[in-house]
Amino acid sequence: MTAMTPDDLTRQVLGAFEGTPQPRLLELMSSLVGHLHAFAAENRLSPQEWREGIDFLTATGQKCDSERQEFILLSDVLGLSSLIEMINAAGAATEATVLGPFYVAGAPRRAAGEQLGRPQDGEPTLVTGVVTDTRGRALPEATLDVWQSSANGLYDTQDPEQPPFNLRGVFVTGPDGRYRFRTARPVSYPIPTDGPVGGLLQATARHCWRAAHIHAIVSAAGCSPVTTHIFDADNPYLDSDAVFGVRDSLVRPFRPAGPGDPPDVSFVAEMDFTLVPAAQEV
Ligand SMILES: [Fe+2]
Repeated sequence: MTAMTPDDLTRQVLGAFEGTPQPRLLELMSSLVGHLHAFAAENRLSPQEWREGIDFLTATGQKCDSERQEFILLSDVLGLSSLIEMINAAGAATEATVLGPFYVAGAPRRAAGEQLGRPQDGEPTLVTGVVTDTRGRALPEATLDVWQSSANGLYDTQDPEQPPFNLRGVFVTGPDGRYRFRTARPVSYPIPTDGPVGGLLQATARHCWRAAHIHAIVSAAGCSPVTTHIFDADNPYLDSDAVFGVRDSLVRPFRPAGPGDPPDVSFVAEMDFTLVPAAQEV
């Protein structure tokens, strides 16, 4: 009688899932079991290492609450969030990137050109551009749900000094598809390091900084929405963003304001967005 091998065990577990009625769930569970078993077998994972992994995931879950999402942060630093956005991207649209853990639904709708945030949130900046579809047609009534951190690197949900929905707002494009809003020039900020994900970064000698950015979810009727960022071209972390979110096509100069620009802003960033009509997707 021959002893059971790791391969035998893996086959047995895969067999236990064979009756899964939902085909996609069967596909995903089978793949997950296969990769998970291969990871353990190839690395000869010890019981202690397995236990440390369980403890790490447990602590990650325990760090989560209604405003802190440590599992998304874990997904982000592993590059998984970025990969999911990439493999689900609609071809010719503006490149997507990570949603991140700080999105809050229900931000107030704001008038064109309105100022996000307070004077102490950073250097006054005008952000403007046009939203079109992939055929080049301007999209009126498109919405930009934008959010960013303050000059101290903190989002409103992390900082009791900031009022709710500070540096957050929904802007709507005009008949020509154009939008504009005033905000603070974004700064680099560290992702939260007071939880298990911070411990992981420390243990692997990785830094915790995100390249300076403004978040945007751009939507229009009849088009697929895009979750993306506007990155500041003048930033030292573009090549080593802690969550692997940077795409070259999303990097823009934040140029000093000059003649012809509104007198109340110090910088101007221009960013156009392209959405794919939903019917065009296969
Ligand atoms: Fe962010």
